[in-house]
Amino acid sequence: MPYTLPEALSGAQRLALVLAFGRLSVLEVCSAVRSVTKVEVPCERICVVELDPSSFRSETKLAGIHKFSPLLTHFQGDEAVIRRLVEQITNEIDVSRFALSAYDTEEADYELLVRLLLDAFRQAGFKKIRLLRPKGNELLADQVLSRDALDLIAFPYKGGYGLGPTAWVPDVAPMRERGVEKPAPHSEISLSPRLAQLLLNLSGLSPGQRLLDPFCGPGTIISEGALMSLNCVGIDSNPVRVAQAKRNLAWVEKQSGKTLAYDIRTGDARDFQGRFDGIVTEPILLPRFHSTPSSQKAKHLVNKASRVYSESLYSMAEAVRKGCRIVIVVPTLKTADGSEVLLRLEETESIGLKEFQPGHVRFEYPVRVAFGSTRWLGRAVYVFERV
Ligand SMILES: C[S@@+](CC[C@H](N)C(=O)[O-])C[C@H]1O[C@@H](n2cnc3c(N)ncnc32)[C@H](O)[C@@H]1O
Repeated sequence: MPYTLPEALSGAQRLALVLAFGRLSVLEVCSAVRSVTKVEVPCERICVVELDPSSFRSETKLAGIHKFSPLLTHFQGDEAVIRRLVEQITNEIDVSRFALSAYDTEEADYELLVRLLLDAFRQAGFKKIRLLRPKGNELLADQVLSRDALDLIAFPYKGGYGLGPTAWVPDVAPMRERGVEKPAPHSEISLSPRLAQLLLNLSGLSPGQRLLDPFCGPGTIISEGALMSLNCVGIDSNPVRVAQAKRNLAWVEKQSGKTLAYDIRTGDARDFQGRFDGIVTEPILLPRFHSTPSSQKAKHLVNKASRVYSESLYSMAEAVRKGCRIVIVVPTLKTADGSEVLLRLEETESIGLKEFQPGHVRFEYPVRVAFGSTRWLGRAVYVFERV
């Protein structure tokens, strides 16, 4: 079950979203939530959106958001502001424990905010209130779900701090389970179900539409797409991967209890048949190294991979109609001398692909997947629209 606060507290016009993948999550919000009228990005982990609050509840399938909070207060040193915030919260809910999750906040400011909040709760009659001190000054989404505590969030905003109570946290346990318990897990080449869902949200596809992943591997994107009621086709040149994807899909179908629409076949992404409403794919994840690669080696690998990218991108552009999107992951390497070698997809306009801009914020492509797990290999994402 997701964590939710009463509507009176969560229905504000400005929400602070805690981002799972940095700027890529902002791209997801701008692409998937139609009622957004303004977006600000005050720090790496937070974006503030202005929107129609009634529409947000039904759109909270955003995979790139850990939690969100109505932005109730802007603190610039006035203690009365904190008291009013606490009054507003305690008028709606009973609070016995609370934590402050702070993003990009100075330690001294964190201590000050905690002290002011504790005083305000006590003055509001909550004499026995307990403070939880989360590690790293952040109560993680899982901890919000499992602990019976109010989570307040704070982040630098307009010369002071934005503050509000966490009002919603998604229950990601089933998604996480799929990631680790599927019969053919392959962490070396697979992305997480969470990132797969985010990429699918970027595609703008609706239930019943046709999705293609022409480099499907063990089928993470196809699995998540099928669970979103898309009609999915997966292609892979390696029959072993095709067999793994089929096993994974059969398992996901059984676990979900739903009939899923998918077709997985052996084929080459540079030469395939069919028309699709969107493509979401991660073609090549480079091999694992035991140590950080030299700049020369990284460039060699990226150049080699870029041939497959450009040849398959041409086929992909041919396979979708005007207005459809192609979401494609590219690798980025950190090298031993500290530089970055990124696989860039250039001159795509000549094959009818323009970079997708959802409005409100302009994105420079590729957009990096922030907070990745490996030190030297990262992912970045392009979203193209067929013109
Ligand atoms: C990084 S994996 C994809 C993993 C997938 N996104 C997932 O999370 O399960 C890339 C896959 O592309 C396949 N591949 C490589 N070259 C190909 C080609 N020319 N046509 C089709 N598949 C290809 C590989 O066999 C591999 O399984």
